[in-house]
Amino acid sequence: MREINKREKIQSFILENSEINPNIFRMIVSSNRMESEAIPGQFVNLYCKEGSRLLPRPISICDIDKTNNTLTLVYGVVGKGTKEFSNLKPGEYIDILGPLGNGYIIDKDIDKHILVGGGIGIPPLIELAKNLNGEKYVYLGFRSDIYLVSEFERIGAKVYIATDDGSYGTKGTVVDLLMKTNVDGGMVYSCGPKPMLKAVSDWAKEKGIKAQLSMEERMGCGIGTCVGCVCKIKKEDSWEYKRVCKDGPVFWSEEIVWNE
Ligand SMILES: Cc1cc2nc3c(=O)[nH]c(=O)nc-3n(C[C@H](O)[C@H](O)[C@H](O)COP(=O)(O)OP(=O)(O)OC[C@H]3O[C@@H](n4cnc5c(N)ncnc54)[C@H](O)[C@@H]3O)c2cc1C
Ligand code: FES
Repeated sequence: MREINKREKIQSFILENSEINPNIFRMIVSSNRMESEAIPGQFVNLYCKEGSRLLPRPISICDIDKTNNTLTLVYGVVGKGTKEFSNLKPGEYIDILGPLGNGYIIDKDIDKHILVGGGIGIPPLIELAKNLNGEKYVYLGFRSDIYLVSEFERIGAKVYIATDDGSYGTKGTVVDLLMKTNVDGGMVYSCGPKPMLKAVSDWAKEKGIKAQLSMEERMGCGIGTCVGCVCKIKKEDSWEYKRVCKDGPVFWSEEIVWNE
């Protein structure tokens, strides 16, 4: 998979920072040419202004706008860092480093794609879907409230929704829904919580479809130096640690060692 060099953090102008669902925010920033290099599945590091929160927060790139030179990020408020971001107003600045990580591999010859996203793993699938040729079957799993669905539909994707409480779409997990619809395709792409990724990986293996999974680990530096974000990757008849921030976050499903 592709690797990208470490680079300087850039002061970026915030054009929008609005709550699109309870505790889910969309931030649009002027990207300072980051958009010309970014590819689907990459992320950026966002820095807090509050000095005690030194570590950057990794957030996936949801949308790359090369005409207006902007990046869209969609994030959930879970702790102190994302809470701070949610209070930023349009017209303020935020320090951003990126684009980081390897991103998804896009094979232009594949004409039917299956995208599976769970919770806060859904945003990067928007930019991915925009870049895929052919039919796109998008499976989205939410707790209760749904978001970004119309954005996928606008791209021409066929969207299937599962919610934990059944308030939208089918009640249950997104993988149950995936199995029920018996879809087929040339490649699976997924991002979301680890148990979901494991289930997607098992499903894809059974169907004989290759799968690219974006792994999420708690990160420190986010640029490959602290070795705080490792996952186990197969190596001949043993395994090795790979850094999710630099060697990933996207790995082939058959590479991943799940029994941790
Ligand atoms: C590659 C990647 C892409 C991501 N993309 C998105 C996205 O598009 N939208 C979104 O809402 N969230 C995304 N996350 C999760 C997001 O990084 C965390 O929710 C966020 O860092 C939490 O910060 P906090 O200060 O609010 O929480 P705290 O729990 O206070 O954070 C403390 C520290 O732990 C780190 N941390 C906490 N949770 C995570 C996590 N899940 N993954 C990695 N580091 C974490 C923080 O960066 C910080 O350094 C992504 C994570 C990774 C690894
Ligand atoms: S977060 Fe430091 S090496 Fe990945």
